Amino acid sequence: MDAVNQMKKAVGDAAAQRVKSGMVVGLGTGSTTVMAIKAIGERLASGDLKDIKGVPTSFQAIVLSRELGIPLVSLDEVEKIDIAIDGADEVDPQKNLIKGGGAAHTQEKLVDSLAEEFIVVVDSGKIVDKLGSTFLLPVEVMPMAITPVTRALTALGGQPELRMGVKKAGPVVTDQGNLVIDVKFNDIPNPAELEMKINNIPGVLENGLFVGVADIVLIGDVIDGQPSV
Ligand code: 5RP
Repeated sequence: MDAVNQMKKAVGDAAAQRVKSGMVVGLGTGSTTVMAIKAIGERLASGDLKDIKGVPTSFQAIVLSRELGIPLVSLDEVEKIDIAIDGADEVDPQKNLIKGGGAAHTQEKLVDSLAEEFIVVVDSGKIVDKLGSTFLLPVEVMPMAITPVTRALTALGGQPELRMGVKKAGPVVTDQGNLVIDVKFNDIPNPAELEMKINNIPGVLENGLFVGVADIVLIGDVIDGQPSV
C-alpha cells in the first residue's frame, strides 16, 4: 500500500473505532470512507462490534457494505443516525466543506446532516483557508434543467461546466439519474448564503456546500514517512 493509501487507512481506522455496538451508522462515499467502511466490516467480522446498521449514501457504499456483511437500512427504518463517516474535497477552518467529488453529495448531505455526530475523514491536502480555492463546487441538476441552471449559476458569478465521465464519452450521471455541473467561484465569502441561493434555483437538487454539518474532522498526514491522524 502506498503512503497516500496508508494515510487514508489510518484515518479510516480511527473513524471506525468511534463506532459502538448497536449504533446506526451513516456510510459515506469516496476512497477515504471506503477505508472506514472496511474497518467497520473487519470489526464486525471479528466480533468486536455487534448489531450495527448502516445507512448508505451511494451505490458504492451499498455494494461495499454488502460485500462486508454490514446490514443496511433505509431512512424509513430508523429513528436516528448515531454517527456518520464521510470524506470531503475541501475543509475550511469553520469545518465547512465542499463535497461531491464522487457526485454523491445529495444523499451524503441528507444522511450526514441527520447524524448526531458527523465525522469527516480527509488527508491534510484537503484543508483550505477558503472554500473554493482548490476544488470546483459540484451542483446536481435535473437533465432537463441543465441550460437554465447553467445560466443562473453564471449570473451568481460562477463559471459552470458540465462534468464529463471517463474519456469524455458522456456526462457523469448520479445515483438519482441526474447530471453534475462543477462551478468555479473565484471567491465564496459567505458559504451559507451561496448554498441557499444555489439550492433555490429551480432544477437544482443539491449542491456540495456543507455548512455547519461537520462535528469532527479527522485529518490524515504522513510524518517522517509514517501515516498519522
Ligand atoms: C463523494 C464525496 C467524497 O467524500 C469526496 O469526494 C472525498 O473523496 P475521497 O476520500 O476519495 O478523496 O464527496 O461525493
